[in-house]
Amino acid sequence: MNTAVVGLQWGDEGKGKITHLLARGAKYVVRFNGGPNAGHTVVDRGVRLATHLLPAGVFFPGCTAVLAGGMVIDFEALREEYDAIRRHLGEPPRLAIAENAHLILPYHRVMEEIEGSGAHFGTTRRGIAPAYRDKAAHVGVRAGDLAAPDGLCGKIAERLESLCRQWPASEALRALSAEKMCAALLEAAEPWRDSIRNVAAELRCAMERGDAVLFEGAQGALLDVDFGTYPYVTSSSTTIGGIAPSIGAAVPAIERRVGVVKAYTSRVGEGPFPTELNDPVGTHLRTVGGEFGTTTGRPRRCGWLDLVALRYAAALNAVNELAITKLDVLSGLEALKVCTEYRVGGRRVESFPLSGETLAVCEPVYEMFQGWPEDLRTLTKQSDLPGAARRYVEALEDSLAAPATILSVGAGPEQTIGTGL
Ligand code: IMP
Repeated sequence: MNTAVVGLQWGDEGKGKITHLLARGAKYVVRFNGGPNAGHTVVDRGVRLATHLLPAGVFFPGCTAVLAGGMVIDFEALREEYDAIRRHLGEPPRLAIAENAHLILPYHRVMEEIEGSGAHFGTTRRGIAPAYRDKAAHVGVRAGDLAAPDGLCGKIAERLESLCRQWPASEALRALSAEKMCAALLEAAEPWRDSIRNVAAELRCAMERGDAVLFEGAQGALLDVDFGTYPYVTSSSTTIGGIAPSIGAAVPAIERRVGVVKAYTSRVGEGPFPTELNDPVGTHLRTVGGEFGTTTGRPRRCGWLDLVALRYAAALNAVNELAITKLDVLSGLEALKVCTEYRVGGRRVESFPLSGETLAVCEPVYEMFQGWPEDLRTLTKQSDLPGAARRYVEALEDSLAAPATILSVGAGPEQTIGTGL
């Protein structure tokens, strides 16, 4: 059976923990979008680790961790992450890297600074948008190019020259050397020379054989380049629909489609956020929830749960299960608000607007829920949930028309209850 785990908000829903829990029995765990802008926190055998490029499959010896064609890969960042995980495991994890995945090179990070998109959109400044733009503009460099170092260096030199012509005043660009960049890239990628291959064909065969494949989404539905709150989005397809082009399979059969929902909302970076709280409740959520970026360390903006946005994200992904995370963070709040619709100029809006500009003028309409004082972190069964917490979960299930099969009440793998494990 194939499974996909995707975020239904603006990222940081806690997908790392959920994919790590579900990866155990998988033959392949596939990251299908984004790059080192992601930050997935995983507690593996008592050790807290962050992954940025590697999917959760790296933690299990029988599993191949795949970096698929829809990703953009920074090999120097990958090397650092891989070495840390190899030390933790005591053996090298099994990797497969798609030959058609594009590379992030140092000039992509420079471009992000020159163009000011980092400051303007609050990006992670990992060169994500410039790398995807080069891909679309046919001037990108791909993992498969590493097999022919001369051609690779030629492509990098040509692109760098073109950028220097375009931005003649940039000292940062002029300081880059194509030769050095190429040498550093070849050295960083050395351990994976044999792992860079036609991953698409391999995955198609694996799925035909019936091997269990787990697809690990990065970011969240509301950051999707096409369906998110444009222009405040990332540059890749973050929804289940992004899997097909990333792995080169027309309509992959994915029986379990798990939407990960944090029990409240957070957003990092710029962009509209109707239920944002700039008050002591927002501070409670940020502090108790440890809401600081795994990749950038930035404090996350926090707010109430938004069912308008979630219904949209659940439909986009056709989710048939929910994993609700960080339910424990709500303990101690007397009353909880849940946004059920928006209002714009006195008019009711029940569907999520496609444009970030429209969303910016939407005001949330709230339904009140009773809070609960009980600490949920040591619960072992769903039936032990306090009544108020159960009603909160049921409201989410009803609104999104999918059962909550996994409830997470702490960072550790043991702090998870539900039937979906
Ligand atoms: P980029 O992906 O670095 O281009 O950033 C674009 C937007 O997506 C910014 O608002 C980032 O903060 C946000 N973003 C990118 N990756 C993540 C993530 O993994 N979690 C949360 N927000 C993210």
